[in-house]
Amino acid sequence: MPVLVVVGAQWGDEGKGKIIDLLTERVDIVARYQGGHNAGHTVVVGMEEFILHLIPSGVLHKGKQCIIGNGVVIDPAALIEEMDGLASRGIAIDENLLISRNAHLIMPYHKAIDVANEKLRGNKKIGTTGRGIGPAYADKISRRGIRMEDLLEPDIFRDRLATNIGEANFILERFYNAPVVNQDQVFEEYMSYAQRLKKYVTDTTLFINQAIAKKKKVLAEGAQGTHLDVDHGTYPFVTSSSPTAGGACTGLGIGPNTITEVMGIVKAYTTRVGSGPFPTEQENAMGELLRSRGREFGATTGRPRRCGWVDTLIIRHAVRVNGFTSVAITKLDVLDTLDELKICVGYEYKGKLYEEMPSDLSVLERCTPRYITMPGWKQTTIGIRKYGDLPKKARAYIEKVCRLSGVKPAIISTGARRDETIIMEQPFKKAVKTPAPRGKKTSAGR
Ligand code: IMP
Repeated sequence: MPVLVVVGAQWGDEGKGKIIDLLTERVDIVARYQGGHNAGHTVVVGMEEFILHLIPSGVLHKGKQCIIGNGVVIDPAALIEEMDGLASRGIAIDENLLISRNAHLIMPYHKAIDVANEKLRGNKKIGTTGRGIGPAYADKISRRGIRMEDLLEPDIFRDRLATNIGEANFILERFYNAPVVNQDQVFEEYMSYAQRLKKYVTDTTLFINQAIAKKKKVLAEGAQGTHLDVDHGTYPFVTSSSPTAGGACTGLGIGPNTITEVMGIVKAYTTRVGSGPFPTEQENAMGELLRSRGREFGATTGRPRRCGWVDTLIIRHAVRVNGFTSVAITKLDVLDTLDELKICVGYEYKGKLYEEMPSDLSVLERCTPRYITMPGWKQTTIGIRKYGDLPKKARAYIEKVCRLSGVKPAIISTGARRDETIIMEQPFKKAVKTPAPRGKKTSAGR
């Protein structure tokens, strides 16, 4: 009954989409547990590129059950647009998608408040995707959110909408000096979304737990990344959900003991979109080279991503808070042309050396990274499928990063396509054994 959780180890955009797509072959269910359409998971199938925002990346495989869990926030218009876009490219969305009754809705006023709030913050802005994610989660935590199940009950929906929109419009108009949202229009719009989405809405927690009891394999798909986690990230420059592995339990309604593996996705260098500290950022020709070779532009907003060297302190922090059992290293080929590579092994600030990631934002913002330098391999790694076929210096780089971060590579990605991958260890090897009958000696567990 294994559940494998896939989590980004950095600030998102690590290339989770490709790895999840690859792992989907081995599972029965792929379930998103947090975030919303702020995510953008890019998957290349043959010559075609797909960018998925809300629908689990598993949808590109026939016969796999996709679930949008209770921890996700859903903009129904965005979801329908994504469903239609996939359908027009021959990817059917039917019984293969289930949506949690308890997932919260992103409402038009959430988006309006998100945008207005960023504008007001000026140069202190978070750099959100402007999708209404933060305000939707704020309503959820304030216990006034509107959930998918409310959408299916017009009277309840009308009532909740009336209460919330009054307050939202007051804030929009009086505090932000921004246009208000029309209640009747929102009601009509959302009722039409209800008609379209109602057949997918169900108790996904029950479904997933029943599937686990039947020994089905589940991949819990994290969006964003560890350092955008509202608890464990570089707060307040984070998203409003819990991308870390624990979020899979609350965001799907599964017990921690169902999780058998946690795979961290680590990009061979580091990127970040939006504001916030990024010690190894390269605001120079090197950063530009990484951006252009890695095509580092946001899959959701198109914004150029900030780029820099790999940072073993942030990976180690991710190992700690997620309990990675293995990692996938992505986009190694982006580094193919470099003469030398730097690996961050510490931060120096006010005469002190930090060898573990400090939670103090001012240290992260002002520290000087301490690097070691490795020679570049200066040859292409694109499409290499065996670890032994990688240039010796590329292997030395991977091994150094992994050793310093305390992780074990299971997968190395050497290109965007499915087959451009080195598989070093098959996931799901450590399946939980069925407990032996009472009275017998057992070694059940991980
Ligand atoms: P929000 O999630 O739109 O509220 O944005 C909060 C922060 O998370 C901003 O810095 C965004 O750029 C960042 N962010 C949100 N989603 C993603 C993602 O999928 N990849 C990378 N960064 C993201």
